[in-house]
Amino acid sequence: MLPLKIFVGVKQRRYAIIREVCETKKLPSVLVTESCSVHTLNSDNNKRRMNDAKILGDVERYYSEKIEFHGATACGVDWNSPDSQRLRFVQLLKLTDHSQPFTINDYGCGYGALADYLKGEGYAFQYCGFDISPRMIAKGVELHAGMQEVTFVSREQDLSEADYTVASGMFNVKLQASSTEWESYMLRTLEAISRLSKRGFAFNVLTKYSDPEFLRPDLYYADPLFFFDYCKTKFSRFVSLIHDYPLYEFTILVRKQ
Ligand SMILES: C[S@@+](CC[C@H](N)C(=O)[O-])C[C@H]1O[C@@H](n2cnc3c(N)ncnc32)[C@H](O)[C@@H]1O
Repeated sequence: MLPLKIFVGVKQRRYAIIREVCETKKLPSVLVTESCSVHTLNSDNNKRRMNDAKILGDVERYYSEKIEFHGATACGVDWNSPDSQRLRFVQLLKLTDHSQPFTINDYGCGYGALADYLKGEGYAFQYCGFDISPRMIAKGVELHAGMQEVTFVSREQDLSEADYTVASGMFNVKLQASSTEWESYMLRTLEAISRLSKRGFAFNVLTKYSDPEFLRPDLYYADPLFFFDYCKTKFSRFVSLIHDYPLYEFTILVRKQ
C-alpha cells in the first residue's frame, strides 16, 4: 500500500500545481493538458538542441585538430590510408548514375577529397562540400580554387538540394556522447541528409561486427540491420546494405527513384 499512497500524493500535487498555473495565467481548464504537453515538447526540443550543440562542438574540435596536425591527407580526416578513403568513395558512389551529369552534396566533406575522386573518374558533376570544421572548409576552398564544378559551404543551411548526398565517416567518432545520444543525433542528421537529396543518399558507419579487442569507447559501432530497417521504413523502399568490403564498417544506399 505504501507505494500507492506515494503515487497518489504525487499525482494530487501535480494537479494542484497545474490548477495553480492555470488560475494564475487565467487559462481555460480545457487547455491544461494541451499546454502541459506543449511545455514537455518544448523542453524535449531544447534538450535535443543542447545535446546536438555539444556533440557538434566536440566533433568540430576533434577534426579541426586532425587537419591542423596532418594537413590535407587521409590522416588529416582521420582515415588510416588513402586506399581506405578511396574504397569508401567507391562504395558510396554505387548510388549514382554516372552515365549522365549529376549534382552531389558531400556532407562532412573534410578537405573535399571526394571532388578529386569524381574528377579523376571523369564524371560530369556539380559538387558542394559541407563540413562543420571551418579549417576543413578553408583547405577545401584553397585546394579546389581552379575547379568551377566544386563549391564549399560552412553552414548546413547554405546547402541546396542535389541529386545525391553522400556522407563518409561522419558517424564514427562519438567522443563523450552516450550511444543513445549519438543515435538520436544520427537519426536527425539522416533526416536532414534525406531532405537535401532528390534521387538518393548514402552513408557509412563502423559496424558492430568488429573484432571486440579493437573496440574503442569513443567510437560508435552501429547495428547494420537497424539502419537498413530504419531507412527502408522511413525513407524509401529502395535500400541497399553493403557489408562485403574489407573495412570494419558498412555502407547504406537509399535510392528514392
Ligand atoms: C572521417 S572525416 C571524412 C571526411 C571526408 N568525408 C573524406 O572521406 O575524406 C569526417 C568529416 O565529417 C565532418 N563532420 C562530422 N560531423 C559533421 C556534421 N554533423 N556536419 C558536418 N560535418 C561533420 C568532420 O569535420 C570531418 O571532416
